[in-house]
Amino acid sequence: MDRIEAAGPNADQIEFWNGDAAERWVELGSQLDAMLQPLGAAAMDRAAPAPGHKVLDVGCGCGETTMDLAHRVAPRGSVTGIDISAVMLSRARARAEPGDGVEVTFQNADAETHRFEDASFDHIFSRFGVMFFQNPTAAFANLRKALRPDGRFTFICWRTPRENPWVAVPLSVAKRHVDWPEAPGADGPGEFAFADRTRFEDALKGAGFRIEAVDSLDIDVIVGGGGGVTATIDFFLRQGPAARVMGEASEAQREAVKADLEETLAPYLTPRGVCMKTGTWLVSAKVA
Ligand SMILES: C[S@@+](CC[C@H](N)C(=O)[O-])C[C@H]1O[C@@H](n2cnc3c(N)ncnc32)[C@H](O)[C@@H]1O
Repeated sequence: MDRIEAAGPNADQIEFWNGDAAERWVELGSQLDAMLQPLGAAAMDRAAPAPGHKVLDVGCGCGETTMDLAHRVAPRGSVTGIDISAVMLSRARARAEPGDGVEVTFQNADAETHRFEDASFDHIFSRFGVMFFQNPTAAFANLRKALRPDGRFTFICWRTPRENPWVAVPLSVAKRHVDWPEAPGADGPGEFAFADRTRFEDALKGAGFRIEAVDSLDIDVIVGGGGGVTATIDFFLRQGPAARVMGEASEAQREAVKADLEETLAPYLTPRGVCMKTGTWLVSAKVA
């Protein structure tokens, strides 16, 4: 499989998103998509792409939002998904169905440094794909150049783990049984890099954007896309911060965490699956 070299400001992320983390996203793709679908849909409603529009999907991963955007710009629009993960893009390419007269393309490149054609997109969109830049201001400035003067940049990103019980609850259970060094500060790239809104607000303004709206969104999701408590525990142990804590755990520790999670998750169980709150920022910006 061809993949971009792990070089440039985001070399570490290119390594990360072509390793185990990416394999996990592919394996759990349909569960993650089912869980994240309402969040992506809220962001897409805000972006409001219209038929015929040209859209860039940043950090498109396995391509679910790219295909949803394609339906929204049909007929005759186009959507480009860009991602540093060749592993996830191969899944995206495999699932892309041509049709509706919409051109869908995928590019294995770093959105911070890739040379886009100037002013070529009506929309730049991202579902959880913009928190991994080493230099958010430089990355946003690069994206702004690619946006038409009347275009819109819309993204959704996580608030703090505390405001996301689907992260905080399994993490605190895992830490009860496994020694884990304190998490590094939120200064660097990572899923919670934009939990503090001033970080993306400063980056957007520094990059020449005018912020249109920043909404704090609290949406309940079915964690892992459904199934009972046991299926959700399996999901938590394979993906996300709790899985990282459990990476080096012994068999006895894993069993202890599973038993603890059985009890802790029981109150969240609904007929549709384990239902927990997510806390996100929904952000839209225009060229200043
Ligand atoms: C949390 S995943 C989200 C994937 C997808 N947007 C979704 O919602 O299913 C983050 C994605 O951003 C991609 N990514 C991280 N840094 C990137 C960069 N500098 N340029 C392009 N993609 C990047 C990762 O490879 C990964 O696919």
